[in-house]
Amino acid sequence: MDPTTLTLHTQFRVGPVDERIFGGFLEHMGRAVYEGVFEPGHPAADADGFRTDVLDALRGLGMTAMRYPGGNFASGYHWQDGIGPPDRRPTVRELAWQSIEPNRFGTEEYLRLCRAMGWTPMLTCNLGTGTPEEARNWVEYCNAPAGTRYADLRKSAGSPEPHGVKLWCLGNEMDGAWQLGHVPADHYAIRAQQSAKMMKDVDRSIELVACGSCGVGMKTYMEWDRVVLEHLGDLADYLSLHRYVGNRESDTADFLAVTNSIDRQIEEADAACRFVQARLRSRKRAFLCFDEWNVWYKNMEKDGHGQFAPHLIEEVYNVEDALVAAGFLNSFVRHADCVRIANIAQIVNVIAPVLTRGPDVLIQTIYFPFRMMSQRRRGVSLTPALDGPGYEGRTHGCVAFVDASAILDESADRLSVFVTNRSQSDRAPLTVRLEDRAIRALADGERLAGDDPKLANTFERPHRVQPRPVDGVRIADGAAMLELLPLSFTALSFNLA
Ligand code: AHR
Repeated sequence: MDPTTLTLHTQFRVGPVDERIFGGFLEHMGRAVYEGVFEPGHPAADADGFRTDVLDALRGLGMTAMRYPGGNFASGYHWQDGIGPPDRRPTVRELAWQSIEPNRFGTEEYLRLCRAMGWTPMLTCNLGTGTPEEARNWVEYCNAPAGTRYADLRKSAGSPEPHGVKLWCLGNEMDGAWQLGHVPADHYAIRAQQSAKMMKDVDRSIELVACGSCGVGMKTYMEWDRVVLEHLGDLADYLSLHRYVGNRESDTADFLAVTNSIDRQIEEADAACRFVQARLRSRKRAFLCFDEWNVWYKNMEKDGHGQFAPHLIEEVYNVEDALVAAGFLNSFVRHADCVRIANIAQIVNVIAPVLTRGPDVLIQTIYFPFRMMSQRRRGVSLTPALDGPGYEGRTHGCVAFVDASAILDESADRLSVFVTNRSQSDRAPLTVRLEDRAIRALADGERLAGDDPKLANTFERPHRVQPRPVDGVRIADGAAMLELLPLSFTALSFNLA
């Protein structure tokens, strides 16, 4: 393959990387909560019932904002079912996933877990079957000082001090006909505005995420966003977007080119925010919250058939999926000016980097690019100028073989670059040049590669796909040179002179 050059400049900045783009999502769905993070009685459970083996695995990802309790689940969830003495909480028929929900894990358990893991809480209120007032009451429960009705409920649950939950989503995927309480854009906009006003009246410091279009294929795509943003005005701090991608045609080259359309989705959502801001002549810009993203197409089992903790959408991830996950993260870093929050969906068992089976925990391929980037996330995103060969994907258009993003950490004189080689057969010779500063040495580097795009880790063979230290990096004349393996993702951190 002809060589690729990645040219960067310390002054060509996209913006600071918000650490919240390395967020996660925990939904009451399938075995995400029960048999996932929470399983009292399991040999690895701690005194709170949290699975320490699962949490140890998740700790490696350094996740930030943790969205909860859904997802579609949120649109039928009444938060008061999940507080108070666990054995007095109701067991309910859960309609989003046709499951049984015993409410043993609720607001207090979730916030305790967030504290234990260093996660930033991010609650999704029920704007499907719930009311604006119920959403407002949840803010009071979480954030108001003791002395009033809902804050005192928290106190009697053993938490006298406010939890200080700053991030709140105004419902979930309300544009989708599958959503409990789905309504047209103007109805949702009214519900969201009423909720937002009351929620901010209880606590002025909270930030709100409005439901944007949940997919690029939706009939109301962008028009929904315009209506919602116009009605919410300055009450919307963020607009949400969701994206699940898959390789249904088993066309790896095209699948790996999907990054093009992720870039485009982000730019279109940002354009909607900027358009409405201009129309409203507002000083306030709504930023983007990509609060569900992942590969999901192989396991579509969404019906729990009235069971507790059924096996739902337990996707098994392979090498090409990991490269696409890296593509999402590269795209978020490249759009650091507007993407402020992002949540991989989800964290355990349900379309997740971590799977459990009885006493065992399996690390899936998509875990690794997340970890490789999350560990190097501090700093400012630099505009990556790529010059090199590419190809034309069947549906996603032209892409370079090499996909890239870069983060400069000035406080540590360190540059990190994240590069994928999409070629299935050829090594990609790469030169990395920082125009106005010299690269002095490789501090550390690792790469994830696989000859077979379908290679996956299994409980029987859990270490088939693993990152390895990078070798063969040469530094000369202030630039770095290496060859990227076919079908690989590489993270490199350089010390700068
Ligand atoms: O993450 C699984 C589901 O996908 C979420 O509950 C929903 O928001 C989306 O459709």
